[in-house]
Amino acid sequence: MRMKDTVVLVTGSAQGIGRAIAIRLAQEGARIVVEDRQDNAMAGQTLDSVRAAGSDGCVIAGDVGSVENDRAIIEQAVAKMGRLDVLVNNAGVERRAPFLDVTEADYDLVMNVNLKGAFFLTQAFVKHLRDTQRGGRIVNVSSVHEELPFPHFASYCASKGGMKMMMRNLAIELAPLGITVNNVAPGAVGTPINQQLLANKAQLEALVANIPLGRLANPSEVANAVLFLASPEASYVTGTTLFVDGGLLWNYAEQ
Ligand code: BGC
Repeated sequence: MRMKDTVVLVTGSAQGIGRAIAIRLAQEGARIVVEDRQDNAMAGQTLDSVRAAGSDGCVIAGDVGSVENDRAIIEQAVAKMGRLDVLVNNAGVERRAPFLDVTEADYDLVMNVNLKGAFFLTQAFVKHLRDTQRGGRIVNVSSVHEELPFPHFASYCASKGGMKMMMRNLAIELAPLGITVNNVAPGAVGTPINQQLLANKAQLEALVANIPLGRLANPSEVANAVLFLASPEASYVTGTTLFVDGGLLWNYAEQ
């Protein structure tokens, strides 16, 4: 039990990578706050899986893209669970469009959920740790696109690049409080965010051809990396990004 009695909040955990993280950490004894936009059946299913893994938790709903919500989410989580030890900023969205067609609404959505949400939820979480005089862990689910350009996804790349520098900055600023901050950067994973891609055989084959390990990741493979960074084993790791991308980022070859 690597996470026994730790209380972990995972944003965007009604599905995809977030759900896999909630379940994996619960298997190691963590109590889980399942956070998502809405308290719906999917969020409930994640909580059921957390319980089936032998742990417990609760569901808290709220769009992380507003500061007011972020404060409320942390407040409610602490009220329900007694305290928080680890924050996993996993909630993320992407919108595809050529740069010249990107709308303000799509730009705001992507930046608000992926970057502003992680920023201000972290701020509220750190205030809670400071007020209770405890250290803690922050793990952001970034993307291989915190480094790698992704044509037609400029707002997504801007948000993930921003998340990279936010993480590095906070690692330094929060170290005196005993708080570590790291990113896990997945490549292509079989989750709902890639629904359209998974349904398009030609597009999927072109992507897989770029991945040295020759396949997409399973969400549980990303969850294992988050588990490491959230666990006591990573006590001296801060300010770093752990890529879980099957080799995608540094893949280059000539015929
Ligand atoms: C994106 C996916 C993309 C993958 C690999 C992820 O961050 O969400 O849409 O397929 O990176 O490029």
